[in-house]
Amino acid sequence: MDGFFTVPIDMSSPPCAVSTDRSKRALLTVFQPRLPTADRLLPYLRSIDASHWYTNRGPLLARFERALADHFAVTPDRVVGVANATAGLSASLLAGGSEDAGRNGRPLCILPSWTHEATAVAVLRAGLTPWFHEVAEDDWRLSPEMVADSLRGNPTLGARVSHVMVTAPFGAVVEAEPWRAFSDRFGLPVTIDAASGFDRLRGGPVDAVVSLHATKVLGIGEGGVVIARDAAQAARIRDLVQLGLSDERVIRQAGMNAKLSEYGAAIGLAALEIWSERRATLERLHARYAARLKGETGLSLWAPEGVSSTLMVRLPSRVAVETGQRLVAQGIATRRWWHAGCHRQPAFAAFPRQPLPITEALADSVLGLPFHEGLADADVDAAADTLRAVLPG
Ligand SMILES: Cc1ncc(COP(=O)(O)O)c(C=O)c1O
Repeated sequence: MDGFFTVPIDMSSPPCAVSTDRSKRALLTVFQPRLPTADRLLPYLRSIDASHWYTNRGPLLARFERALADHFAVTPDRVVGVANATAGLSASLLAGGSEDAGRNGRPLCILPSWTHEATAVAVLRAGLTPWFHEVAEDDWRLSPEMVADSLRGNPTLGARVSHVMVTAPFGAVVEAEPWRAFSDRFGLPVTIDAASGFDRLRGGPVDAVVSLHATKVLGIGEGGVVIARDAAQAARIRDLVQLGLSDERVIRQAGMNAKLSEYGAAIGLAALEIWSERRATLERLHARYAARLKGETGLSLWAPEGVSSTLMVRLPSRVAVETGQRLVAQGIATRRWWHAGCHRQPAFAAFPRQPLPITEALADSVLGLPFHEGLADADVDAAADTLRAVLPG
């Protein structure tokens, strides 16, 4: 597939070795996951040893959810730790009645095509069919106005829509309040896929889901968190990610097994201890890229509201693939994090979609550069300078 033109992420890769002689420098990896060290985990692991509570809503998960609630500025009863964000997104849709809607002639979920494939997979696993929509060129997001126009302009498909899933791209924020107003007006539940939005997301009046995957700023390996629109919705989601079992051990709606284990919660608690330090490093590296790339004609650096684990640049034309190849030949790995756009994936090609010229232009012109805490300032300078040098004249 053309999205992968450079080395895949190697979760076990050593730190980048920097040499002033570029020909001798090891490949500058595009991403290097950093999870808490074994030393930092040890106290939490010892508490698991002592409690013999390994999963199924244990004390560390409760503690982690309380800490996340503080971070997201909501009450703990709105926070549900889950096995991964994809499952959390599906659970949010299921809690909004996706399966009944699917069975009753409203199987469509509107979502952007400019998102990670996980968003579309989550829609399908919740019993819905994706209807891919175009994003705005300037902020890479769907807006309530764009979706309202689409519903009005396509009454036949519009009548079959039951849900909307909006993605907050690469550390960006999607304001929840306008989506609540949209949701009230059209009677459609909205879920925000804020997979990479940990830093700036604050709980709002629609469900939001954050990923805690190793590639995210607060990585625990595999994990996610749902910040539900209210406590009742959170309670439904909490049941749905333990098969659908309620506290009374009754299943009224079948869910899935997507619980976050005590080990996952332990890593999360340890990751929160080092979060502010990590955030500062990523912010500093982003600022260094911005300064180094400033003034390059036609090139724009994605500058989201919050820190992200990716550094995205929009190239002056649709040359992401060629530029990536030129950079890797110079020892700089890159990645098209969202590949070619969801609608171009064979598994999703048959689903309805709007014309998607902006999505296709973004997919062909947006590139992720090396970005992680293992980078020295000299690495950032090398990546930025090499990019400038290989851009087509
Ligand atoms: C936009 C988006 N949604 C969903 C996901 C899936 O997250 P997870 O791996 O936690 O299921 C990702 C992961 O990268 C993502 O970028």
